[in-house]
Amino acid sequence: MRDVAIIGVGLTKFGELWECTLRDLFVEAALKAIDDAGVDHIDSMYVGCMSGGLFVGQEHIGALMADYLGQGPIPASRVESACASGGLALKSGCIEVASGLSDIVLVGGVEKMTDVGGDECTYALATASDQEWEAFNGITFPGLYAMMAVAHMHKYGTTARQLASVPVKNHDNGSKNPTAQFPQKITIEDVLESVMVADPLHILDCSPVTDGAAAAIVVPADLAKKLSKKMPVKIIGMGHATDTIALHSRPDITTLGAVVKAAANAYKMSGKGPKDIQLCEVHDCFSIAEIMVTEDLGFFEKGKGGPAVEKGETRIGGKIAINTSGGLKSKGHPVGASGVAQAVEIVTQLRGEAGDRQVKGARIGMTENMGGTGASAIVHIMEVM
Ligand code: COA
Repeated sequence: MRDVAIIGVGLTKFGELWECTLRDLFVEAALKAIDDAGVDHIDSMYVGCMSGGLFVGQEHIGALMADYLGQGPIPASRVESACASGGLALKSGCIEVASGLSDIVLVGGVEKMTDVGGDECTYALATASDQEWEAFNGITFPGLYAMMAVAHMHKYGTTARQLASVPVKNHDNGSKNPTAQFPQKITIEDVLESVMVADPLHILDCSPVTDGAAAAIVVPADLAKKLSKKMPVKIIGMGHATDTIALHSRPDITTLGAVVKAAANAYKMSGKGPKDIQLCEVHDCFSIAEIMVTEDLGFFEKGKGGPAVEKGETRIGGKIAINTSGGLKSKGHPVGASGVAQAVEIVTQLRGEAGDRQVKGARIGMTENMGGTGASAIVHIMEVM
C-alpha cells in the first residue's frame, strides 16, 4: 500500500444558504480544492452525503456531482455513514490512492439541510438512529444525546457548567473562522439561559442545521511535492469502527466504543499516541459528545473531560486544542460534509494558514467524525511532510 497525502482543500461558507443548491455547494468546494492543489485533472471522486433524498429529493449524487463538476466520465461514488459520511469519503479516497488504482482523488462532502422545515429535518436526522426501536417511538438526536449526558453526569459528576464550557470555547474559536455559521461569542450564562431542547441540553449545546460543502485532494505521498507547491499533509493513521446503532444495546452509554476502537487502530497505524496529538477536530454534535470523545480518544481520563474543558485545557494554547474551527457547534454541521470539513481545518492548521486561530508549531493533528450516537466512527491522524 502507498502512503497518501492531502495537497489541496476547499470549503464553502456554512449556514442557511438559500441562494445555493446542493450541486452548487459541492462544485464550489471541489473547485476550491482543485485550485488549491494546483492539479489539472482528477482521476476519481468520493462524495459523502447523508440524506440528499430526504433533504432535497436528490439521490444518485456521485454521478450528479461528477457531471456538474465537468469531470465525467471519471468514476464517482456517493458514500453514506450518517454524520460520518464525510469521514468515510476521506477514508475511501485514501484507500483508492493507497491501492494504486488512482493517483489524484477528490474527496468531498455536502449537505443542504435548510430547504425542509424543522420537523422534516428532525425526521431525516432520526433515520440515523434505530428506526424500529428509537425513531419510530419519537426519540430525536437531542433526546438520545441528552440520555448520554444524564448518564455521564450521574456516573462522573459532570456538571451543566462543564457542558456549557464546550460551546463557549467553540464559539470563541468560531469567532475567528470566516466560514462559521454562528461566529458570535457566547458565555456560560447565555448557554444555561438558552431554551431547553432535551434536558440537560439547551439550544446552545446543540450543533445547528446547516448547508455547506467541503473537499480535499488526496494523492500518493511520493508524488505530493511534485504535484503541488502547497505543503502536503500526510495521512499517517486511519481507524474506522462500528458500535450498536441503538443506545439501549450498549453496556455503558457514557463511552463511545466505536471511537475507542477507531482511535486505537489509528494510533497503532501511525505509531503515535494521544500525547503526540497537538490539535483535534472532534464531532461535537452536542456538548456532551465533545466531552465523551476527548476522553475516549485518550486525551483525558474517563470522567475528566468535563473538568478539562471547564479549566480551559482544550482551548487554543491549552494542553490540546480541540475544535479550533469552532467545531460543529459554531462552524455548523452540514452532516455529510462535516468529516471532510474537519480535515480541511487540520490541513489549514498544519500548513500554518489558520490566521487568528492558528495553533503555534502545529505538526500533528487528528479528526474524529461519527455517525448517529457513535454507531460509526472514523479517525484520521495527519502530519506535515
Ligand atoms: N446554535 C445557535 N443558535 C441556533 C441554533 C444552534 N444550534 N439552532 C438555531 N439557532 C438560532 C436560529 O438562528 C434562530 O435565531 P433567530 O431567531 O435569531 O433567527 C433561533 O435559534 C431559532 O432557530 P430555529 O431554526 O427555529 O430553531 P429550531 O428550534 O428549529 O432548531 C435545534 C434548534 C437545536 C432543534 C436544531 O438546531 C437541531 O435539531 N439541532 C441538532 C441537529 C442534529 O441533530 N444534527 C445531527 C447530530 S448527530
